[in-house]
Amino acid sequence: MKAVVYRHYGGPEVLEYTDVPDPKLSQNSVMVRVRAAALNPADHMLQAGLGESHTDAWFPVIPGWDVAGVVEQVGAGVSEFAPGDEVIGYIRQEILHHGAYAELVSAPVEALARKPRTASWPEAAGLPLAGLTAYRAIVQTLKVEPGETVLIHGAAGGVGTVAAQLALAREACVIGAASAGHHDFLRSIGVHPVAQGDGIVGRVRALAPDGVDAVLDCVGKGVLHATAEAGSSRMRACSIADGGPGITTVFARPDSAILTWLVEMMDAGGLRVPIAATFPLAQAAAAQTALKLPHPPGKVVLVI
Ligand SMILES: NC(=O)c1ccc[n+]([C@@H]2O[C@H](COP(=O)([O-])OP(=O)(O)OC[C@H]3O[C@@H](n4cnc5c(N)ncnc54)[C@H](OP(=O)(O)O)[C@@H]3O)[C@@H](O)[C@H]2O)c1
Repeated sequence: MKAVVYRHYGGPEVLEYTDVPDPKLSQNSVMVRVRAAALNPADHMLQAGLGESHTDAWFPVIPGWDVAGVVEQVGAGVSEFAPGDEVIGYIRQEILHHGAYAELVSAPVEALARKPRTASWPEAAGLPLAGLTAYRAIVQTLKVEPGETVLIHGAAGGVGTVAAQLALAREACVIGAASAGHHDFLRSIGVHPVAQGDGIVGRVRALAPDGVDAVLDCVGKGVLHATAEAGSSRMRACSIADGGPGITTVFARPDSAILTWLVEMMDAGGLRVPIAATFPLAQAAAAQTALKLPHPPGKVVLVI
């Protein structure tokens, strides 16, 4: 099959579009013919070797954890899916080797859900990791309640756009910190935008005089500490991009039931995944560069 690989750590320039052996299909997994694979910052961070202390890499590595495609074959023991089914999944693996930047990927059924009927392939591929992370933060960690005010740093990003919609669906008021070029987009989905950087506490306080009830950090770089004074006395906060003393960090987990719940929300018209840009598989390096640079709201996706 054709795939994009890297043979040693590095930036987008180490990515190579090439022929590799098809993945093997083990029990409780299905072989997915990939139609779209979404990029995530984790792809290029791991590719740069930043995960070396805790994640093994078996070179050549095919990057990519977000997939949408068609089931081609089912492994032994699989009754949930059949050939021809359209699926999506967050297919993170413990050892970096077989990712989604490829024509085929073998995916465990517990990582998969049926593709949203109403979504394009790029929108479908953009949902799993962003959606599962946003759900873990907004619903399971911050436990946002109706009537609360939530501040989201990086609200126009892949995770931020989904997190904002989940908080709005829970009848919260959402303040989204983003660069000025993304403010009209945020208004279009019902978010009150504020500019990042110096003076942000005053801008948030102008919108929420009693302080915000919850803060989600999708940026890192100390923004949680910088906005601590924007919180009410009952403020909860968590980060998906920062750690250290006093910071609750949350990580996405593969979860078929939650992914199915997000798919149903999408098909009911309550959630959309904005697409920043699409690229053909062979242009994965350009796609990674686009994700690393300032980009339009939402996900960067490879289309196969
Ligand atoms: N813990 C987890 O499980 C998990 C899961 C997914 C992602 N993450 C992490 O969460 C962060 C966001 O992921 P994402 O997929 O939403 O990324 P993304 O789509 O690239 O969005 C990041 C957003 O942050 C804003 N931003 C502000 N300052 C920035 C800076 N200095 N550099 C880059 N962006 C900046 C950008 O919006 P503006 O231009 O509007 O400022 C951008 O839209 C990343 O660090 C990623 O590694 C963690």
